[in-house]
Amino acid sequence: MNSVQKQPEDIPSACGKVILLGEHAVVYGTPALACGLPGAVRLRMVRSRENGLRVSVPAWDFRHSVGTHSMVGEALRVLTDALPCFSSFDLVFDADLPMGAGLGSSAALSVACVRTINALMKQGLDDEEVRDLAHRMEKVFHGTPSGLDDTLATFGGLCLFRRDGAWSDHDPEGEVLTHQARRLKHSGLRLVIAESGVPKSTKKMVANVRSFAKRHPGIAQATWTEITDLVSCSVKAIQQQDWPSLAEAMKRNQEILCELNLGVAQFKTMTDVAYEAGAMAAKLTGSGGGGCMVMLAPKKEEHVAEALTQAGFPAWTITLAPQEPGETLSTPNRACP
Ligand code: MEV
Repeated sequence: MNSVQKQPEDIPSACGKVILLGEHAVVYGTPALACGLPGAVRLRMVRSRENGLRVSVPAWDFRHSVGTHSMVGEALRVLTDALPCFSSFDLVFDADLPMGAGLGSSAALSVACVRTINALMKQGLDDEEVRDLAHRMEKVFHGTPSGLDDTLATFGGLCLFRRDGAWSDHDPEGEVLTHQARRLKHSGLRLVIAESGVPKSTKKMVANVRSFAKRHPGIAQATWTEITDLVSCSVKAIQQQDWPSLAEAMKRNQEILCELNLGVAQFKTMTDVAYEAGAMAAKLTGSGGGGCMVMLAPKKEEHVAEALTQAGFPAWTITLAPQEPGETLSTPNRACP
């Protein structure tokens, strides 16, 4: 291993994400509402090495090389096939979000890797091209991802995402990020995130919902329509800081996700603890079947996070400062435990 190299001037990083409403339904064309967790994965250092690309994330106890027989090795191969990587690098990243817990860790790492190689090899990719390549890497991890995670990892902010890009007049206006994504202006939002500690598989959960939708196409269609309405109500509620309406929408979305068999016993305990501490809504975020929950607890965020942590579910708060489209992004209060 050679000596540590100078870091690029702008340190490459990527956002994690919290889906507020619309996971799974988004795969079928329904809009989803999600916000980015800025700087969740950041380049710490670049070393040169003997051969090939290697990526490590000490916070995840994670180290993989291009081409090894692992999903990460294959995803890195997608990256090096697409972008010339004449030198061999050892990339070390810091991470402020847990791995594999529904907060978009694989997409954040993919985007951070693309941005790093883009900077090192002076490829000049713009954000949309970064997102496209990260999406191809995400396919290695998740099969047929909607693209929501890699979009949030790239652009951050409060976003509305439509996989098919078929926007209707009823959809809220926003800054156009890609044909699939709009960044929304909003009046600020604070949330609590908590880990169930139950490992989950996005691929498996998406396959389970797909099998349900095949068996019950009518029910599935009615469900996606209901979620579309919930997303639209939630956008208005966030923009007007109407927390009771947002809470109602999140609660109903959670009921639907549980009806789709995406709940685990720990979610019930977490919900009880959160309500006892003053939360207005608790909902799984991401694929479910484990991973994290997101809670709405206006003015009681710290208290709810503390109660959940005490109960054995590591929790933290995030703040999305009011934002006009085009403004710089807010930073989360703190890194997750
Ligand atoms: C996973 O973060 C979100 C899902 O909707 C899958 C996807 O959008 O690809 C469950």
